[in-house]
Amino acid sequence: MPRNVLVTGGAGFIGSNFIHTILSADQAVRVVNLDKLTYAGRPENLQDLPDPARHTLVVGDICDRKLVDRLLREYMVDTVVHFAAESHVDRSIHDPGSFIRTNVTGTYTLLESARQFWLVEKGIEPSMPTRFHHVSTDEVFGSLAPDAPAWTEDTPYDPHSPYSASKASSDHLVRAWFHTYGLPVSLTNCSNNYGPRQFPEKLIPLMTLNALEGRNLPVYGDGQQIRDWLYVTDHCEAIWEVVKRGKVGETYNIGGGNQPANLELVHTLCDILDELQPDSPHKPHRSLIRFVADRPGHDRRYAMDITRISGELGWTPRENMASGLLKTVRWYLDNPQWIESVRSGSDINTWREKNYTNREAKRA
Ligand code: NAD
Ligand code: DAU
Repeated sequence: MPRNVLVTGGAGFIGSNFIHTILSADQAVRVVNLDKLTYAGRPENLQDLPDPARHTLVVGDICDRKLVDRLLREYMVDTVVHFAAESHVDRSIHDPGSFIRTNVTGTYTLLESARQFWLVEKGIEPSMPTRFHHVSTDEVFGSLAPDAPAWTEDTPYDPHSPYSASKASSDHLVRAWFHTYGLPVSLTNCSNNYGPRQFPEKLIPLMTLNALEGRNLPVYGDGQQIRDWLYVTDHCEAIWEVVKRGKVGETYNIGGGNQPANLELVHTLCDILDELQPDSPHKPHRSLIRFVADRPGHDRRYAMDITRISGELGWTPRENMASGLLKTVRWYLDNPQWIESVRSGSDINTWREKNYTNREAKRA
């Protein structure tokens, strides 16, 4: 059973939800959280942890080999759960270099450090099982035609964006360290997450926060792109199951089975806000929707086949889209300080300028 867990990127959206989840689920687990605190890494995501004494935040870079070496030894790490990444497709179009550095070189650094500690030096009890779990994405598979079957773990990789290409590269490295050196790895490739603590550059929090402020809701292209949405705690529980009970060397697809087109999803969000904010001057929120220039290389459709993880580990999502979206919107409404602190302490205004200025004009 995992005891001393190094979580990378644990101040980000999914990593922080994961730490909340495992500290509640497992009383014996201790977490050391290595996070560079980029614009997406928010210490406020780690407030209200169930048992904060079992969590230590170390601010640093996964590309810093000396630091990673030290943490593995100091905390006698038996399990690495690797979330740290540059994660936003639109940013990867503007600045691919940081994606290659963190997602590829960072993953390589962690793999080498774990190999040295666990396999070369046998620095921990031989009887203590170790695991390097790599958190990846469905975007490595590319884009699906409207009627094509969902992706399985055996679907060939076909990444299209600098982000997905960097994640595909990191997946290949992780598998190579298993096959070549016998590093005990596992991988999960998951679809689009949503829920509390997601940085408001991604579709659902962006649309929610823009609508609350009466800003335009920028839908790329025709809004008919499809994603396979999963509530974040479902993802976290799936990862924890794979870490504890998944086969070494194995990959598991994770998905939510919720596949509305983007425009339909934005409509639903607007309707939820109309209902929860009956006195809003921005009602009906649908009137804020604007079609804007499409994302270059925009993938059309994603869908995950979760037969393996549900058959082998009995995992299926708890939330459906209606329950998950309602919880999510309520969370943002109930946490104005989080919104305020993310707005004031990050680059969100600069990013808005960079990605959205003149985008409407380009579409027209
Ligand atoms: P996020 O952008 O919210 O968080 C990333 C975290 O990594 C931040 O806390 C950031 O500070 C940290 N980080 C970035 N570079 C670092 C570095 N060099 N060293 C240390 N820390 C660094 O991302 P997220 O949405 O929580 O995604 C987490 C992981 O899950 C990523 O690997 C992503 O590819 C994967 N994933 C995300 C989704 C999704 O829908 N968000 C779906 C499937 C897989
Ligand atoms: O599929 C998993 C991936 O999901 C993760 O690996 C990524 O880390 C995560 O960012 C997410 O990628 P997407 O590009 O699918 O998510 P995003 O929220 O950026 O966009 C979702 C859809 O909404 C996509 O079709 C683009 C569209 N969109 C997005 C934004 C930000 C818009 O129409 N308007 C927008 O302003």
